[in-house]
Amino acid sequence: MKYTIEKTCKNIDFQQVYEILHFYGLSDLDVNTQKQVFENSYAVVFLRQKDKIIGVGRAISDGICQAAIYNIAIREEYRGKGLGKVVVDNLLSQVQGCNVILYTHPKHIGLYEHWGFAKMNTGYAMYKNEEHYRKEGFID
Ligand SMILES: CC(C)(COP(=O)(O)OP(=O)(O)OC[C@H]1O[C@@H](n2cnc3c(N)ncnc32)[C@H](O)[C@@H]1OP(=O)(O)O)[C@@H](O)C(=O)NCCC(=O)NCCS
Repeated sequence: MKYTIEKTCKNIDFQQVYEILHFYGLSDLDVNTQKQVFENSYAVVFLRQKDKIIGVGRAISDGICQAAIYNIAIREEYRGKGLGKVVVDNLLSQVQGCNVILYTHPKHIGLYEHWGFAKMNTGYAMYKNEEHYRKEGFID
């Protein structure tokens, strides 16, 4: 499958990024705020097939020792073809030398363990919408 790997926000159609993230319920931000969130991130990855964005991901980081990955998503019809791993590997290569954390949906825990992440014993979170995250199984 032919696609390009973009590592900047230049020429990215954020309407599509917005649509992919909204489709999976991964973000409720509007298009412009979503754009800002990616532009403010330390590392970004967009997989693109011609004008179609087929995968996205981003990491926030100090660029030296700590990083956190967010918003990993592959367009539905492209899932299960190894592209999720391409996004994660490209983010990891941009934050080499860092400890990398992420939190995922409870249904994807096995996937990240498959990709070499270890489940944290001491992770804590202060969510804006705590009840939602409790209902979804992120916290007890
Ligand atoms: C999660 C997501 C990004 C994965 O991307 P993808 O392109 O479908 O995944 P890939 O094809 O790269 O990798 C799938 C691999 O993980 C394995 N896998 C998938 N689910 C798994 C699970 N629950 N436990 C163990 N392994 C799992 C597959 O067998 C496959 O293994 P392989 O690479 O050795 O063949 C994608 O499915 C997605 O966009 N999901 C909806 C959005 C979402 O919920 N994102 C949140 C992630 S934080």
